[in-house]
This record gives sequence, C-alpha cells and structure tokens, in this order.
Amino acid sequence: MNETSKPVHGMWTSRWVFILAATGSAVGLGNIWRFPYITGEYGGGAFVLLYLACIALIGVPIMIAEVTLGRRGGLSPIHSMGRLAEQSKVSRRWKGIGYLGALSGFLILSFYSVVASWALIYVWEAVRGLFQGMTALQSQGNFEAMQANPWLMLGSHSLFMVLTMGVVALGVKRGLERAVEVLMPLLFVLLLVLIGYAATTPGFAQGVAFLFAFDFSKLSGEAVVIALGQAFFTLSLGMGAIMAYGAYMPREIKNKKTGRSRPVSIASSVAIIALLDTLVALGAGLAMFPLLFTGNLEPAQGPGMMFVTLPLAFGQMPGGVLFGSLFFVLVVCAAWTSSISLGEPMVAWLVERGKSRWAASLLVGGAAWVLGVGSVLSFNLWKEHTFLMGTFFDNIEFLSTSILLPLGGLLIALFAGWVMKETQVRKELAMKSFALYMVWRALVRIFSPLAMIAVIAYALWSATR
Ligand code: PHE
Ligand code: NA
Repeated sequence: MNETSKPVHGMWTSRWVFILAATGSAVGLGNIWRFPYITGEYGGGAFVLLYLACIALIGVPIMIAEVTLGRRGGLSPIHSMGRLAEQSKVSRRWKGIGYLGALSGFLILSFYSVVASWALIYVWEAVRGLFQGMTALQSQGNFEAMQANPWLMLGSHSLFMVLTMGVVALGVKRGLERAVEVLMPLLFVLLLVLIGYAATTPGFAQGVAFLFAFDFSKLSGEAVVIALGQAFFTLSLGMGAIMAYGAYMPREIKNKKTGRSRPVSIASSVAIIALLDTLVALGAGLAMFPLLFTGNLEPAQGPGMMFVTLPLAFGQMPGGVLFGSLFFVLVVCAAWTSSISLGEPMVAWLVERGKSRWAASLLVGGAAWVLGVGSVLSFNLWKEHTFLMGTFFDNIEFLSTSILLPLGGLLIALFAGWVMKETQVRKELAMKSFALYMVWRALVRIFSPLAMIAVIAYALWSATR
C-alpha cells in the first residue's frame, strides 16, 4: 500500500454516480426477496415499523459514518481502516473492521448467489409461459420442485457467480454505472405495475392491513434482532461495501459552467439512497402480500415467498409472459449490482496487495461458490440436517446478517464517533446544518452503539439457546 494507490481503483465521475452505485448495491434481493418474507414471518405491521425505526435511527447514521470512513481512507476497507488507525494514532487492530467485513461479504455472497440464481431460473420459466393460469398451490409446488433439484440450482448458482465476478474482474466503474442508470428506473416502473395489479385482487385490503396495521402483541426480542439485521443488510452496511464505494467518491465537484468547486455532501447522498431502498422494499411488500391473501396462502412463506406469489400475478394479468420475464430479469440485475459490491472490497484489497484483478476475482468467487454449494444443498439433500438456527443456509444467513453486519456497524460507529478526531469527521462530512450534525453525532456515539450491543448480545444468546 502506498500514498498513490487511490487511482488504482478509479473514482466515480460525479456525486450522482456514487448515489447510483450505492443504490445499486443497496437495492437488491434484500428488498424484493428478503424484506417481504421476513415481514411475513415476523407478523407484519409492527415489524415494518420496527424496521423503519432501525433504518432511520441506526441505518442512516451508520451509513453516513461508513461513507465518511471510506472517503477519508480512500482504499479498500482493510487498508482504509489501517490508514485511518494510523492517522488517529490508535492500534492497527482497527483494521479488524475491514477483515470482519470481508468475512461477512464472503458469507453473504455465497448464499446471495444461490437466491439470485432462483430468479435466473424463473426468468426461463416466465419466458416459457409456465406461470400462465397457475393456482396458488401449483405455484408453491413449482417452487418446491425447483428446490428439490440440486443440479439445476448448482448450474444457475455457477452462472450467477461467473456474472458477478466477471464484472468485478473488469473493474466496476464503466459497465456498472451505465447498467444501474437504466435498470433501476425500470425496476421501479415494473414494481408499480405489480402494485397496480395487486390492487385489483380481492386480498389487497388485507395485504395493506397486514403491512401497515401495527399489532404490537406480535413483537418479540427476536423480531428486533431480525429488523436491525435487515436494516443493515438492505442498506449494504457493516461489511465495507459502502466504505469501498465511499472511497471512490470525490470530495469536490467542479461546476462545468461556473468553474467553482462545491463539496460533495455525504449526508444528503445517504438520505437519497436510504429513501430509494425503503421505497423499493415497501413496494415489494405491497405487490406480494395481497396475492398471498387472495390465494389463501400463509404470510409466513419463508424464503420462497417472492417466488410463489409473483408468478400468480404474472399468470393472471394481461401481458403476463412479457412482464414476468422482464421482472425476473430486473431482479437478477438488481441482485447483480448488489453482489458485485459484495465482492468488491475483498478484490480491491487483494489488488492493493499486488494481485491482478482477474486472479483476485477468481479466488474470491471460487471460494464463495464452494460455500454456496452448502446453501444449494440446504434445500434438498441437507434439508433435514438442522442445527442452531436451522439449515446450513439459515445459519450462514443468520450469522452474517444478524450478528456480523451489526458487529461491523458497531465498530464503524465507535470508530467514527469516538476514535477519529472530531475536526476530521466534521471536515469530511461538511454538513451544512449544525443541529443535524449534532443529532447524527449523538446517534453514532451513544444511541446506535448501545442498541447494537443489546441486539448482538440477544442474537448470540438466542442462537445458542
Ligand atoms: N443491500 C443488498 C440487498 O438488499 C445486499 C447487500 C448486503 C449488498 C451487503 C452488499 C453488501 O440486496
Ligand atoms: Na436493499
């Protein structure tokens, strides 16, 4: 690592490109697949409220902190943290934030690829018109049949991993910027079409009530753990993806007309990213729950929820073959822009250590692929082998999202709130409103760490119980 290593990975060309890339990382399976199914499992409205509180009070402040560390560090998370620790004259062990993040990213990438690969299989099924006229039970059966077939899932898991690491190997900037620009707005539009369809079904009112009626009797300690984990997962926090993307964010942008430089605000960029991410998650819930109730299916569908409900909509609506194919293509793309950001921190680190981007991508992708095979088998051959939180897949998911991400977030908050010099933080943040800055600071120094310590302790306790 040397002082000139910043251009190794390149910089985003503008603030908007940073916002787009970070939104590409944030909006993914976490919104369309994970949010609706855990909301179903944890009882609906009260959980949604808890989730929104976690986003606003913990997720947004931590995201601001993570981008700040990244932009200040300017390198892959591991090396950024090493550099920041040096600047702050504290132990180099703070690099551990980077290593921990790499581990989380690796674990998440392994199962993320498997779920994304279901969407890949569904593109093919949608194109062939398989969903036409399906009943709710048939749709459930169709999903189960796919899961019972390890070879099919192994094939699509391999394909998705190659797609992901291929882009990482090429370098994220060019291809990805363009892709995100076109695909994200399209995803929004299709989500609106699906909500529009859901509104015409008899279960709509019930679906809306399930999502937004707050029945607090359904809340539990476990729901709090899951809500916080989901807030981190959905915003790509606590594992260095956002730190890495922050490192490629310019500090100032020159206005082409006036020639004057303006600071690029971290806080307002983060607000936009979090808002978009939240809208997509709520939209996905609005599109799916009415279909469950219309088809007399249980809201607690588990990981199959999106794959059981949406085919019903496409099977009934006019133009369903076209919309269905397009929708699953977009889900794959949303997952793609996210999985790339899962691999990027590790690859950037290996590149800084002298590996070529290709070798680094091959290494990271290959290892994550192997671990992903365990997730593939969790749905068939290893289905009955459960321990701690459930199957192999359940355990990797719980460990990474409910324990490691909050732990990474906790350390990031402590570093930004207590370790770094305040003058440095303020300069990097360049927030216009002093009051808002003080609110952020209080959340990052005190509220978030305490909340996260409580949640991590509870998660560990509930996992070993
Ligand atoms: N935020 C992504 C999603 O919601 C998942 C993700 C987590 C991506 C962590 C990068 C890092 O799908
Ligand atoms: Na997300």
